Amino acid sequence: QEDIFKNVISHAKEYGFIFPSSEIYDGLSAVYDYAQNGVELKKNIREYWWKSMVQLNDNIVGLDASILMHPTTWKASGHVDAFNDPLIDNKDSKRRYRADVLIEDYAEKLNVKAIKEVEKAKIRFGDAFNQAEFVSTNARVVEYKAKEREILERLGRSLGNEDLEDVKALIEELEIACPESGSRNWTEVRQFNLMFGTKLGASADTAMDLYLRPETAQGIFVNFTNVQKSGRMKVPFGIAQTGKAFRNEIVARQFIFRMREFEQMEMQFFVRPGDEMKHYEFWKETRLKWHLSLGLGKENYRFHDHEKLAHYANAAADIEFDFPFGFKELEGIHSRTDFDLKAHEKFSGRKLQYFDAELNQNYVPYVVETSVGLDRMFLAVFATSLKEETLEDGSTRTVLKLPSVLAPTKAAVLPLVKKDGLPDIAHKIIEDLKWDFNVAYDEKDAVGRRYRRQDALGTPFCITVDHQTIEDQTVTIRHRDTMKQDRVKISELKAIIDNEVSM
Ligand code: GAP
Repeated sequence: QEDIFKNVISHAKEYGFIFPSSEIYDGLSAVYDYAQNGVELKKNIREYWWKSMVQLNDNIVGLDASILMHPTTWKASGHVDAFNDPLIDNKDSKRRYRADVLIEDYAEKLNVKAIKEVEKAKIRFGDAFNQAEFVSTNARVVEYKAKEREILERLGRSLGNEDLEDVKALIEELEIACPESGSRNWTEVRQFNLMFGTKLGASADTAMDLYLRPETAQGIFVNFTNVQKSGRMKVPFGIAQTGKAFRNEIVARQFIFRMREFEQMEMQFFVRPGDEMKHYEFWKETRLKWHLSLGLGKENYRFHDHEKLAHYANAAADIEFDFPFGFKELEGIHSRTDFDLKAHEKFSGRKLQYFDAELNQNYVPYVVETSVGLDRMFLAVFATSLKEETLEDGSTRTVLKLPSVLAPTKAAVLPLVKKDGLPDIAHKIIEDLKWDFNVAYDEKDAVGRRYRRQDALGTPFCITVDHQTIEDQTVTIRHRDTMKQDRVKISELKAIIDNEVSM
């Protein structure tokens, strides 16, 4: 699995999807740049989301709020006081850890250790398998698993109580159970606020302390009345937004899974108080269907219903995806009650209410939120699509089987040779197609190698111009996934491509 993940990262770099940020200065930790093909794939995912939200729902409208917001926003939302992670430093290695992640790692190591012991026992006793020994080793696995569960439960309770001394004690206890895991020289655990601070204004005296938004949602809440009134929106209705968010993550790892600067695609759905569970269930199912529509495989998704709820929520679930490093959160669906709007009423002194003509009543609407990370979507799509295939003749090919609708380039046009007027015909075909699709031209290397390169870029079609094209205005069109080639008229190309790649 580790190898698969390394492959994903190096493929992303080699084929111009993702580069480490400021690489000539050795990069900036957990910050990445989207390259020429990555930016197209990312844009297509964003558009796929936007169409399904805004274009296909007549009661959902878009918004593009600013990243910088009045600082009181973050007081009201609870982020100044509560948007913290538990941080612990190791005095020996001088490294910092998120205490909860560290504990999960230890718990996992304990389990791995136990499983290895069972494997060793199996090898040792071979055919004449010693039942008694097996049973006792197996019992050890069960014991470790129980310990892991107990530890994680205690961790959950400790973090809930914000009793950080307990967290430190847990880490120390785990190190005793799993001695190879390192040193015991830890500092106290402390709460670390994840918001990035910045300043507005030139003079030191009058400059105002601001934050870079840690979620896009608050831009929607503060605009609730503006959008509702100017759009004459009737509850239930939604506001959708995509945009950058920033979090000073303590441990940012796993490539673009957890970054310090990332993009969210969020939708807040405003509903009548009391109706929220109905809408919550609807959006849970609707969002899962959206993910499944990309065809990455049903088995890659699962729901995780939260038992421990954030201070603003009365129900919450994640859609988890099977990333190269296991099932992790891809999207969150939260029933946020009237927490945010009420808090903004309190801090701003303005009314954020809605007059429901049917009920002849004013109220602060409840909110059901769907929130998905665009970069996580990218990673899910990219990693799952990357395949090493063995072909009939025993050779292998690397192919990025992206959903065609998301592919950065829809077709590559390739003249078989660089002479006899074939490049001119190829350019004419591009001239005609480029108004509808991203198309690429390639004349370098033998045509077989050009096919392989387009496979690795995820291009669904290769169109080859050969000598027969001069005679009868036909070309071959090769399908990425099946590698099958058909001979078709140039005039049919647009319809064939459109049929497969349109949203
Ligand atoms: N408004 C709700 C909210 O922000 P969240 O669970 O903190 O909820 C929502 O974030 C989604 O944003 C996550 O499911 C994840 O896909 C993405 N996300 C959160 N932190 C991220 C990070 N550091 N890097 C990349 N994506 C992140």
